[in-house]
Amino acid sequence: MKQVTVSRKAHFNAAHRLYRKDWSDTKNEEVFGKCSNPHFHGHNYELIVSVTGEIDPETGYVIDMKVLKELIKNYVEDAFDHKNLNEQVPEFSSLIPTAENISVVIWEKLRPHIANKNDLSITLYETPRNYVQFSGTNQ
Ligand code: NI
Repeated sequence: MKQVTVSRKAHFNAAHRLYRKDWSDTKNEEVFGKCSNPHFHGHNYELIVSVTGEIDPETGYVIDMKVLKELIKNYVEDAFDHKNLNEQVPEFSSLIPTAENISVVIWEKLRPHIANKNDLSITLYETPRNYVQFSGTNQ
């Protein structure tokens, strides 16, 4: 079986604040540093969505890139771009919007729209040097 991975890059700008309401400002600053700034701050998130599977002999595709592009636009960019993640994105009303949690939320939003036989992996850059990857839960 030839397993091929195809990837699409995208990006969005979003604001966030990393903090726990049940911690003092001092403790939040200790743990989350600048990302706990009460006035929020933004990141230019770079996203790579990868789909792995067999090549469809009829089309030669693993997934049509036009379809993948539209899925990312509809479920990620339209939901996150130029938003305050804490205040405007329901998934983060009680979930700390770290890059780790954002990548899991993106995976969960896209997974229902990717064929079951294909694997989905999310790579999310919060800065040019810091990035996280999520490929789903181990069965
Ligand atoms: Ni931050």
